Amino acid sequence: MSDKMKIVAAQEAIKNVKDKMKLGLGTGSTVNEFLKILSEKVKGGLDIVGVVTSEKTRVLSENLGIPLTSLSTVKSLDLTIDGADEIDSDLSLIKGGGGALLREKIVAYNSKKLIIIADKSKIVSKLGDFTLPIEVSSYEHEVTSSRIMRKLESIGYEGSIKLRLINDSIFVTDGGNLIYDLSIGLISEPYIVEQLLNSIPGVFENGLFINLTDHVIIGEEEGVKIIKK
Ligand code: A5P
Repeated sequence: MSDKMKIVAAQEAIKNVKDKMKLGLGTGSTVNEFLKILSEKVKGGLDIVGVVTSEKTRVLSENLGIPLTSLSTVKSLDLTIDGADEIDSDLSLIKGGGGALLREKIVAYNSKKLIIIADKSKIVSKLGDFTLPIEVSSYEHEVTSSRIMRKLESIGYEGSIKLRLINDSIFVTDGGNLIYDLSIGLISEPYIVEQLLNSIPGVFENGLFINLTDHVIIGEEEGVKIIKK
């Protein structure tokens, strides 16, 4: 997505932010554009407080002067703004390309509203072209990854699973866990796959976000498109 489309989507998203709101702040390059716009509003007197979904978002938010708190302090959030890697027609998502899926899902789950900002390349008819990230415990993680494949095979999926590396080193999440990226082709029943993956000991979360999104703002060359359920 060009920066312009990210900015346009972020400019539309900011219209949903009102004084005194408690905001969930997602992760990724599109959210970064939103944070810059939010920071200008805060400097202009907007009174909000944010809960971050990653250390990257924390650092940027602090540098931009956005006041932060924790979910346990505010208990629940009015609105979360986040990005996505894939969005289907039910507004189900694949997230976690940036490795923040566990914290992103905790924040989205505890938010009254989730708005996704993205470009139109993220829209798909079925989820699964993008690899599905799964956050697992580092303890005996090879066993967990074999279990994941065997469970998926038992419901008819085939494919491969790969430990995420960054520059030849194992990628470690903000919570100290590992990510496996799963390729199983198109996912016809995202809800069933989400539940099955989360039933495996060692799996903390997966990147399927089902029934969490309220609406999606798509940045385009000429303005924005808003997709509601
Ligand atoms: C982070 O873990 C992801 O869920 C991001 O929200 C997602 O990868 C979108 O990122 P971009 O806005 O950079 O495309």
